[in-house]
Amino acid sequence: MSSMLEGKTLVVTGGASGIGAATARLAVQEGASVVIADIQDSAGEDLARDLGVHARYVHCDVSREDDIARAVDEAVSAFGHLDVMFNNAGIVGAVGPIDEIPVDEYDFTVGILMRSVFLGMKHAARVMKPRRSGVILSTTSCVGLRGGLGPHVYAGCKAAIVGFTRNVAAELGPWGIRVNAIAPGKHATPMFADAAFGDPNATDRTEVFEKISPLKGRYGTAGDIAEAAVWLASERAGFVSGITMSVDGGLIAGTPEGGEPGQGLYAGHRPLVREAGRRGLPE
Ligand SMILES: NC(=O)c1ccc[n+]([C@@H]2O[C@H](COP(=O)([O-])OP(=O)(O)OC[C@H]3O[C@@H](n4cnc5c(N)ncnc54)[C@H](O)[C@@H]3O)[C@@H](O)[C@H]2O)c1
Repeated sequence: MSSMLEGKTLVVTGGASGIGAATARLAVQEGASVVIADIQDSAGEDLARDLGVHARYVHCDVSREDDIARAVDEAVSAFGHLDVMFNNAGIVGAVGPIDEIPVDEYDFTVGILMRSVFLGMKHAARVMKPRRSGVILSTTSCVGLRGGLGPHVYAGCKAAIVGFTRNVAAELGPWGIRVNAIAPGKHATPMFADAAFGDPNATDRTEVFEKISPLKGRYGTAGDIAEAAVWLASERAGFVSGITMSVDGGLIAGTPEGGEPGQGLYAGHRPLVREAGRRGLPE
């Protein structure tokens, strides 16, 4: 079988760690070249060195337009073209009650989680439109799809990415450019480990990740999102545009009352209720 991304070039923001690093790795395995764009210079440079001639690292603060433009231009000058822009970098950002969040923390968080996606879409479109092809992906979150799962500013930014994705897909479809988002659930990455345990290195606490996973015997990894990103970036998803794909083990779908297989209010069969508590089919 041919490689899924043979000859393609990607920019992956937040590519030095977690989901971005896993995606950069998988994309190179699948035949692509990758520009890893991040602010963690030594981790990014180490990964690029490890991936060899098909990878480059660029220092890129995603909240800065010049930096995003430079990452996109680096893909074009180093590898000839940009096929896939993955707007993935992120932080948890401002946390706390809505009446206590300082405006400067709000602004900083929005810059990294949302302005970054706008800038990534803008500069990807700049080089993709003339070629009339390309794929733009962005990492949103289950937190943007349902209330109560995360901090307010993070949730607002992630919900905004869903809207951005749909609207930009509508503009860019006629240019042959697909635009999609991926919504992870709870995945064992430094960001989530830090938020959950106060330690970014605690990604190996498998028993805790399994406990909070909606799927029995399995928890979310960075690799799960990388698989979705590579598929969405590839021609195998060639007719998919404008969607937000949840890759969350069913977190947003919900869990049954009771939680265990066969447990809960509606788990067992009973005669149906047809009206006012009367049971069974009419005679
Ligand atoms: N891990 C999860 O459970 C989860 C769930 C939902 C969404 N996400 C999203 O996935 C994306 C990747 O996060 P992750 O879990 O891999 O975390 P991570 O911390 O491992 O990776 C995030 C990367 O973004 C980079 N980054 C942060 N600020 C930046 C900036 N200003 N400019 C450039 N790069 C910057 C970091 O240096 C890091 O390499 C984020 O957008 C996050 O919101 C993660």
